[in-house]
Amino acid sequence: MKYIPKLSRYENIEYEQCGRSGLKLPPISLGLWYNFGHVDVFENARETIFTAFDNGITHFDLANNYGPPPGSAEENFGRILRDDLVGFRDEIVISTKAGWDMWPGPYGDFGSRKYMIASLDQSLTRLGVDYVDIFYHHRPDPQTPLEETMGALDYIVRSGKALYVGISNYPSQITAEAVGILEDLGTPCLVHQPKYNLLNRQSEKTGLFDLLQERGIGCVAFSVLNGGLLTDKYLNGIPDGSRASIPGHWLKKLLDEETKTKIEKLNDHAAKRGQTLAQMAIAWVLRQDGVTTALCGASHPNQVHDNLVALDNKNFSEKELKKIDMILGDTEL
Ligand SMILES: NC(=O)c1ccc[n+]([C@@H]2O[C@H](COP(=O)([O-])OP(=O)(O)OC[C@H]3O[C@@H](n4cnc5c(N)ncnc54)[C@H](OP(=O)(O)O)[C@@H]3O)[C@@H](O)[C@H]2O)c1
Repeated sequence: MKYIPKLSRYENIEYEQCGRSGLKLPPISLGLWYNFGHVDVFENARETIFTAFDNGITHFDLANNYGPPPGSAEENFGRILRDDLVGFRDEIVISTKAGWDMWPGPYGDFGSRKYMIASLDQSLTRLGVDYVDIFYHHRPDPQTPLEETMGALDYIVRSGKALYVGISNYPSQITAEAVGILEDLGTPCLVHQPKYNLLNRQSEKTGLFDLLQERGIGCVAFSVLNGGLLTDKYLNGIPDGSRASIPGHWLKKLLDEETKTKIEKLNDHAAKRGQTLAQMAIAWVLRQDGVTTALCGASHPNQVHDNLVALDNKNFSEKELKKIDMILGDTEL
């Protein structure tokens, strides 16, 4: 059946300026790392994207290697753009990335100019678009000079293949250097994409948020539910079909007794706020100054609905925040 986006899609959502740029992002964005590849049920992926777009989620985050198989999330998203979202490209912010292993040989990984530009060309083909809105370098490359990788990002914007560029997983020190190089080249760094959630507070501890705010750079916080651990789904074991139930998945190893206890206590605390744990985890990320959007994954449209409810209560009292710090054992922060 032909998809017609809801006319009311912009009525209940407030967009945030991404750093010192003109680009606004929704408070919650949808990530396509898992659940949108060729191994997944296409109709479910399609419905999840429609649910997001119908509720004002305009930002969809991809990478060259998302699937599985790698590249297939871009192909599926391209198919949906072409078949269902035709006419809506200008209402959508598409991001993609390069930086992880993508094809065999010495030119399919990390951060050389050769890899970055070839990878984006491949992504554009898979997505069936002329440009992406944001192109990221996915992780620092210890071997390629930073000037070369940033030079590739600068070229990519000048060639019209991306409107903005960003970096992901860069620690504070390399972020400062990368941002300086991009500034000198005349292509500002729009955004950083770090991992940030209740169980991973590195970006606070290392001063990354302070740096981003000083330099006017937006922040797309990823894995805000820690892959699903910060939801109520693992409170009574590992349910079938969940990410941790995938044989050999690293998420299962994170579910030790200490983490389970923290999750139970956080879940009780969320209930006192009238929220699910997922909703509180998202609201908690959004409380951080400098975070522009909470980038969430979803395996079903209902999860998108559930997560959007987080926006109804984003405020935390000092007492609530202290309680959370105590549960996490982060009292020194
Ligand atoms: N830049 C990077 O290096 C990087 C790295 C990782 C991720 N990312 C980006 O961040 C996005 C999100 O990452 P992520 O998938 O790890 O994130 P996440 O948002 O922490 O976890 C998403 C998972 O949580 C579960 N979930 C979501 N909402 C739920 C709800 N309301 N109730 C119960 N369970 C719920 C689902 O797990 P089930 O599948 O088990 O249902 C879903 O797949 C990625 O898609 C990608 O775009 C970027």
